[in-house]
Amino acid sequence: MGLKIAFAQQKGGAGKTTVLSHLAHSWTRAGMDVGLVDLDPQRSLTQWAERCSDVEFDVKESKDWRAGSDIRSSGKLHDITLVDCPGNADILLRAAIRECDLVITPCQPTGLDVWASGAIINICDAEKTPCRIVLNRVPPRGGKTDEMLAELEDMQATVLTSTLGNRVAFSSGMTNGTTAISGNRKSIARDEIEALRNEIDRVLTNL
Ligand SMILES: Nc1ncnc2c1ncn2[C@@H]1O[C@H](COP(=O)(O)OP(=O)(O)OP(=O)(O)O)[C@@H](O)[C@H]1O
Ligand SMILES: [Mg+2]
Repeated sequence: MGLKIAFAQQKGGAGKTTVLSHLAHSWTRAGMDVGLVDLDPQRSLTQWAERCSDVEFDVKESKDWRAGSDIRSSGKLHDITLVDCPGNADILLRAAIRECDLVITPCQPTGLDVWASGAIINICDAEKTPCRIVLNRVPPRGGKTDEMLAELEDMQATVLTSTLGNRVAFSSGMTNGTTAISGNRKSIARDEIEALRNEIDRVLTNL
């Protein structure tokens, strides 16, 4: 059975699909066979994968009572299965979190994202699935990042060391199926994703 990771955050637009697609691309480049499960009726992940000419991803679109078994069957077929969760769908979210080995919660360093992360942390606790927060769209300096980190710590959240900046390279590729690691150009965005992937690999090794 391969590993299964849910990307969950009830706050819309926090970066679930963006972070997931970049990591999917990065793990594929690292030689892993990656399966995708799209639980979001918006189909953003599916549409990105359909346009991705670099990799032919096996994408399962799923919903309702089928979600758990679809995640399980993707887990049997692939080294790693990445599940894109819808923002606000409690029962579906719980089913996905129950089925997965790890939850990654993208969180922008703002109060609204941090508070919404609390809901995911509670579901993860109830379902006994480990959760890691990844700070996304972090400004280069200042802002509220330190304050938000303190709030997350108060909520007993485990925050990954790797963070992602607010970069055009992360947002520009979604509609044409590329990511910041398409081609071989070096960039800060690419370094950030590779560092994040390596850190998540270490978490997975120690589960
Ligand atoms: N690190 C980043 N730098 C720049 N833009 C980003 C970054 N992360 C996300 N975005 C942009 O923010 C928007 C929301 O991101 P995304 O669609 O990944 O969020 P989501 O959590 O999947 O949203 P939804 O809840 O609607 O599914 C997108 O336009 C995306 O390109
Ligand atoms: Mg999304």
